[in-house]
Order: sequence, then structure tokens, then C-alpha cells
Amino acid sequence: MAKGMLSNFSQLVLCLFSFLTLSHQTPAGGLPYTVGNVTLPNGIQMFYREAGPTNGTTLLLLHGFPSSSHQFRNFIPILAARGYHVVAPDYPGFGFTVVPESLNYTYSFAALTQSVAAFLDAKDITAFVPYMHDYGGPIGFRLALQRPQSILAFISQNANAYIEGFGATFWPPIFSLWNATTPAQFQAAAAPINDTALTLAGIKSQYTTGSARPERLEPESYWLDYALIDEQAGNRDVQIALLTDYRSNVPLYPAFQAYFRRAQPKLLAAWGKNDIIFVPPGAEAFKRDILNAEVVLIDAGHFLLETNLGQMAGLVLDFLKKSL
Ligand SMILES: *[C@@H]1O[C@H](CO)[C@@H](O)[C@H](O)[C@H]1NC(C)=O
Ligand SMILES: *[C@@H]1O[C@H](CO)[C@@H](O)[C@H](O)[C@H]1NC(C)=O
Ligand SMILES: *[C@@H]1O[C@H](CO)[C@@H](O)[C@H](O)[C@H]1NC(C)=O
Ligand SMILES: *[C@@H]1O[C@H](CO)[C@@H](O)[C@H](O)[C@H]1NC(C)=O
Ligand SMILES: *[C@@H]1O[C@H](CO)[C@@H](O)[C@H](O)[C@H]1NC(C)=O
Repeated sequence: MAKGMLSNFSQLVLCLFSFLTLSHQTPAGGLPYTVGNVTLPNGIQMFYREAGPTNGTTLLLLHGFPSSSHQFRNFIPILAARGYHVVAPDYPGFGFTVVPESLNYTYSFAALTQSVAAFLDAKDITAFVPYMHDYGGPIGFRLALQRPQSILAFISQNANAYIEGFGATFWPPIFSLWNATTPAQFQAAAAPINDTALTLAGIKSQYTTGSARPERLEPESYWLDYALIDEQAGNRDVQIALLTDYRSNVPLYPAFQAYFRRAQPKLLAAWGKNDIIFVPPGAEAFKRDILNAEVVLIDAGHFLLETNLGQMAGLVLDFLKKSL
């Protein structure tokens, strides 16, 4: 371990803790979690990572664009060591989930939510805490509208439910996709996204932009995201379809917010405050509808588990302990 890495005591504790976790609870495979897939009724083979006692409270980790359950690789063992049952699926179009060509799957947030719901049913998970990052936000909140009785609490990490959460500089190229009404306009809007956001440089910038600790980023995180987009025929189109369909979440915001006011769920919004994609006013907005919402802004960017794992684990474990 490099000198200077342990900048404070809590990090040291976490480091020791992770070491103990790894040395005592590593399954035979060598990973601090299991990997596998379930075949959904429609034939999708949904890949997921899972750890912790199955009788513990379930945390459903919902990843962001352009990543997968891989973004939770270091977080999962920490939660599992505290007795939580953790599951992290890869959505269709991401990570190692396999979608049969014959299915002609429509890549939309409604469909991704339906696939996550089918995954929960296959795993017989009826109560859970969604931990939502980025794309995980609309998926978790849609699930909550569909099965409110299953929701134990929410954790939002730059996972948005308010108009004011959209970053002013990041979204205009995507708004152009939303506004396109002809195939020519759509192509004209898609090309620059294909040439920027979906390149290695664009994906890397999702990790580095706003990060106070870019030196902590493991290059394999963005390289894996990039490889999975670049190496799989048609995946760029999938990503553009989902960036386009993100539009479909906005008309649901009033329903999400009415549900928050009605149900008053426990909610922790711990957001990277330098994220340019989903910005702090979106985190603060939860307080308008959920009286006891806890909002914490962290000196980090979009992928804060990569750079602020110990801090985030501390916040999440404290929140869960007092909320459940
Ligand atoms: C899914 O799991 C089965 C074993 O249950 C395995 O044979 C198969 O290779 C896995 N598929 C993927 C895509 O990981
Ligand atoms: C889960 O099961 C284990 C082993 O049977 C038991 O020791 C533990 O207390 C259980 N935990 C909960 C939260 O029920
Ligand atoms: C696949 O779905 C698209 C859009 O839903 C539709 O236009 C197309 O005809 C479908 N293709 C097949 C082979 O079913
Ligand atoms: C998209 O359309 C909206 C509403 O018509 C407009 O306010 C906005 O400026 C447009 N944005 C882009 C990037 O085309
Ligand atoms: C996106 O970029 C790739 C690689 O540069 C290219 O092969 C593909 O045709 C582009 N797709 C669109 C829709 O522009």
C-alpha cells in the first residue's frame, strides 16, 4: 500500500476492515462476491454480483451509464461484511448481461425497469433498499411506483428526480436528441454524441470531471465501460437509444414527487457536488418533498465510489443503521 494513501484514521479503519472482510469471507472463487446470471422469462441472461447473508436486509445496487455492476466491486464486500444482502444486476445493454438478438429488445427506461423487476422476482426479493446511481435513479423510482410496499428506504448518489438536477453544460447535446423530429435531425444529433460521449476520452471524462482525487481512479473502470460499448456490435446504438429515452423519465417526475410527499420514505441523497451531469440542486430538491431527507454533498464528481469509497460507505452504513 502506497505511503500517504492512508490520509486519516477512518480510512485506516476501513482499510483494515476491508482486509478482514476479504480474508475471512472470500468465497471459494476468490472474489469477495459471487457472480452469476439468471435467465428471465423473456430469455435475457441477467448478469449480477451478489454477497452477504440472504436473510440480511437486501440492498439493490442500480448502476449508472456507461458502467455496470462493476462500479460496485469494492462497495459490495463492505456492505456484505455488515450483514447486508447485496445484489447488483447489469441492465440489458450493459456489463455482461446477454440479450438474445431474437428478442428485438426495446432499450427504454420502462424496459430496463421491467427487466430489473423480473430479476427481483426471479431472485424472490420482495423488500429492498435501492442504492441508485445516475440511470439507477429512474429505474429505482419507477420500481417504487410499481411496488411501493417493497421499498425500505432510498439511497440516491447523483440519481435524479427533479428538473433542477440537470447540469446546464452536459445536457444540451442530449436535449437535441430529445427534440429531433425527423430521422435526419436525429442523425445530426446522434453523431456528435457518438463521436464524444461514447469514445474512450468521453467515457473517461465521466470519471475524471469534477473529481477532487483523480489519482485514485482505476483505469480499468473506464476502459471496461469503453470496451463493452466499443467491442459489442450495436451497443453504441443501444446507448444512444437510452440517452434519447431518458426523456421519458421527466414526465414521471411529478409522480415520483407526489409519491415522496405521500410515503415520506427514508432517503439519503449523497451526491458528488462537482458532478456536471446531475448537479447539487437536484439533491437539495428531495428536501422539498421528503421532510427528513438527508442531503450530503461530497467533494467529488460523478463516480464518487471510485474516489470516496470509505466516506460513502460510512454515510451509507450510518444511514441504514438509523433508518431500518
Ligand atoms: C450464465 O450462467 C450459466 C450457469 O448458470 C453459465 O453457464 C453461463 O455461461 C452464464 N452466462 C453468462 C452470460 O454469464
Ligand atoms: C441469519 O441467519 C444466521 C444463520 O442462521 C443467523 O445467525 C442470523 O442471526 C440471521 N440474521 C438475521 C438478520 O435474521
Ligand atoms: C423490432 O422492433 C422495432 C421497434 O419496436 C420494430 O420497428 C421492428 O419491426 C422489430 N423487428 C422485428 C424483427 O421484430
Ligand atoms: C429543445 O426544445 C425545447 C422546447 O422546445 C427548447 O426550449 C430547447 O432550447 C431545445 N433544446 C435544444 C438543445 O435543441
Ligand atoms: C458511431 O461511431 C462508430 C465508431 O466511430 C461508427 O462505426 C458508427 O457508424 C457511428 N454511429 C453513428 C450512429 O454515428
